[in-house]
Amino acid sequence: DKGGWDSFMDKEIHEDPSAVRNTLIGRFDEDGEIKLDEVHIDAEAFRQIDKIIVVACGTASYAGMVAKYAIEHWVRIPVEIELAHEFRYRDPILTPRTLVVAISQSGETMDTLMALRHAREQGSRVLAICNTQGSTIPRESDAVLYTHAGPEIAVASTKAFVAQIVAAYLLGLYLAQVKCTLYRDEIHQILDQLKQMPEKIQWVLDHEAESINDAASKMINAKSFLFLGRHVGYPVAMEGALKLKEIAYTFTEGFAAGELKHGPIALVEEGEPVVVIVPSSRGRNVLHNKVISAIEEVKARGAFTIAVAEVGDPDAEKYADIVFWRPECPTLLSPLVDVVPLQLLALDMAELKGYDVDKPRNLAKSVTVE
Ligand code: F6R
Repeated sequence: DKGGWDSFMDKEIHEDPSAVRNTLIGRFDEDGEIKLDEVHIDAEAFRQIDKIIVVACGTASYAGMVAKYAIEHWVRIPVEIELAHEFRYRDPILTPRTLVVAISQSGETMDTLMALRHAREQGSRVLAICNTQGSTIPRESDAVLYTHAGPEIAVASTKAFVAQIVAAYLLGLYLAQVKCTLYRDEIHQILDQLKQMPEKIQWVLDHEAESINDAASKMINAKSFLFLGRHVGYPVAMEGALKLKEIAYTFTEGFAAGELKHGPIALVEEGEPVVVIVPSSRGRNVLHNKVISAIEEVKARGAFTIAVAEVGDPDAEKYADIVFWRPECPTLLSPLVDVVPLQLLALDMAELKGYDVDKPRNLAKSVTVE
């Protein structure tokens, strides 16, 4: 049931706020102590973990890439992201102290399942982050942390992505708690900030939909799009590029903004849309200026620039042709809001082109073959 929306994808994007809210519910108490009682791995075993490897595909892998920035910062252990289909064919280094985190919306992705089987055979523990109760990946894992995004019907993944980031963040905060790498107060503060994210996402849905739709109609004839970001904005750029490929059948590429001068800038031609995820300018964030100069660089070569930027950012306003605004929030949490305009942009482009947004050509909701 689409509940009055034109498509499941439209409905599910509008469920981004509740996906975040529901994934947080019941996972910590009033004092800010993380409680992952459902995860049957004892605290001592968690304390021993010295490396995390995330195995996942597509959108789920981008959620893992976002989580890497947060978990390495909070827990000070290395986090690697590996596309599940590449993982077991290269003899990865796995020990009993490695925690393999398999992220999957459907819980049935064969590539991810084969990767986790390999990890368990090598003696590592596997924790699944999954949206589908009772599916194969959680059943075959040592533990599971469910994302409570609710059933996702549209082929293109949207609300599951934000829920996966939240679940991975809860895991990171739990590790920080058992390993004492963050103070109780710090964990409490991050949880408070996470709790505020649903309303920030809602703000984007309420205030930016019209300008996103306008932008989509302006770019309807574009043959290709580039997406740029840095730090946590980098996986968001790749996710935005993937959404547009999947449902609007537009050739897109997402990459790290710093890489521009090492090659991709050669692609920029007159009128080329370039979508840029701009980090906050607060706290004299050095990356802000670097990303703004990336906008200037591509603009000087004729690009049509679209920025996703924090409300009130004077540079985004000045340099980008169009800005999709998002509320102020901490850098590590910004992917939860920054991805929303990109989901809407893909939806609008696909609808304007007259495509079936819920069932894009050549794709299936869960890929059960290797
Ligand atoms: C993107 C998309 C795919 C899936 C990928 C993993 O919109 O739908 O890239 O994210 O196939 O699927 P799950 O999460 O079910 O393992």
